[in-house]
Amino acid sequence: MDGSGICDVVVFDTTLRDGEQAPGFSMTTPEKLRLARALDRLGVDIIEAGFPLASSDDAEAVKAISNGIRRPVIAALARAAERDIVCAGEALASAQRKRIHTFIATSDLHLERKLHMTHDQCFNAAVAAITHARKYTDDVQFSAEDATRSDLDFLCRVIEAVINAGATTINLPDTVGYSTPDEIEAFFASILNRVPNADKAIFSTHCHNDLGLAVANSLAAVRGGARQVECTINGIGERAGNAALEEMVMVSRVRADRAKFTTRIHTQHIFATSQLLTEVTGQAVQANKAIVGRNAFAHEAGIHQDGMLKDRRTYEIMRPEDVGVESTTLVLGKHSGRHAVQQRMSDIGVTLTRAELDRAYRLMTTIADERKNVTDDDLRAIVAQLREQAEPAAAAPGSRKVAKAAGARPAAPDAPHALVEFGYGHGV
Ligand code: KIV
Ligand code: ZN
Repeated sequence: MDGSGICDVVVFDTTLRDGEQAPGFSMTTPEKLRLARALDRLGVDIIEAGFPLASSDDAEAVKAISNGIRRPVIAALARAAERDIVCAGEALASAQRKRIHTFIATSDLHLERKLHMTHDQCFNAAVAAITHARKYTDDVQFSAEDATRSDLDFLCRVIEAVINAGATTINLPDTVGYSTPDEIEAFFASILNRVPNADKAIFSTHCHNDLGLAVANSLAAVRGGARQVECTINGIGERAGNAALEEMVMVSRVRADRAKFTTRIHTQHIFATSQLLTEVTGQAVQANKAIVGRNAFAHEAGIHQDGMLKDRRTYEIMRPEDVGVESTTLVLGKHSGRHAVQQRMSDIGVTLTRAELDRAYRLMTTIADERKNVTDDDLRAIVAQLREQAEPAAAAPGSRKVAKAAGARPAAPDAPHALVEFGYGHGV
């Protein structure tokens, strides 16, 4: 943290591990390698490449990424068990910079119902795992699975012991997305305050999105003292996913006054990385997904389009090019206004008189009544129809089809009007 209260946050990307674990998101080794290259270009600090003991494919992918990607730290997941750690250590052998990430659940619910372990057994397994992992690398991360639902005294005891055993990063996952921002901020602040050797490790947050709070909780964890955030591209991950990398990073850019941390992410590569993930997994992001969704920089409402054309800051809090999106899209649909029609016509090289614009606008709304949006070809057809009406003798045979196909209403008589939007579409 510098004098301005701004701290540096390490970005740990787990798209290839937690993200890949989600149903429908599995990737082959060459696909993972392509994504790892994109994550490297994006500037993430750590790539969690897989869980080598989980499958031979995972082990192969971790090996390939360890071989091929040199700048970021490559992490491999391992349960707090000797064979997992051996497998992770071997898969990471050729990495330039490697991290073993070992975990065990610490909540009573997981210990009693899933692992059938006592606190003491869990404590001993955690310490033994760190001691073992340190034989492969001095960069060892410990995760207390279901940390946010764990007994705080026990959790603090485990954290102190694993730091003494050599853990350099302590990750406290909200494994089931149960926490809330106020709670997780207090949780991190209290643990950092209570664990006597907390200053010897970096604390990390890993939030799931079951209640849609993963990003809000991760931001709160940073306020509470976390200095590593675990996240995924497009927010993919188990169940409802993990905190979305693009959202975390853009909050820190757009609201630097509130989210006082910096990362080394090159934001102009965000969209391409998101698209690559979509291409590789075949899983599209929802249209209204923040930052990378198809509608994130699209405007259809007439008032919004008019505002955007006058000053984009009226309806955009960040520039699309800052995240690698080519440009804002003015979608022509039933909510659009004349100003956007004029702009889109000009984009396809057509200049309309005021009277033509009025008629073109009416034809556009007729098409939009029938379809979700209006394409450049529709606009060209509208222009052809306008020109044909203006010069009936010169009209091309068949050009009337446009109006017919669009079910166009007769064009309104020319009437001068100022180009001002008063409402949403349909000429209002
Ligand atoms: O959600 C979780 O607890 C995890 C751990 C393995 C880090 O993914
Ligand atoms: Zn997780």
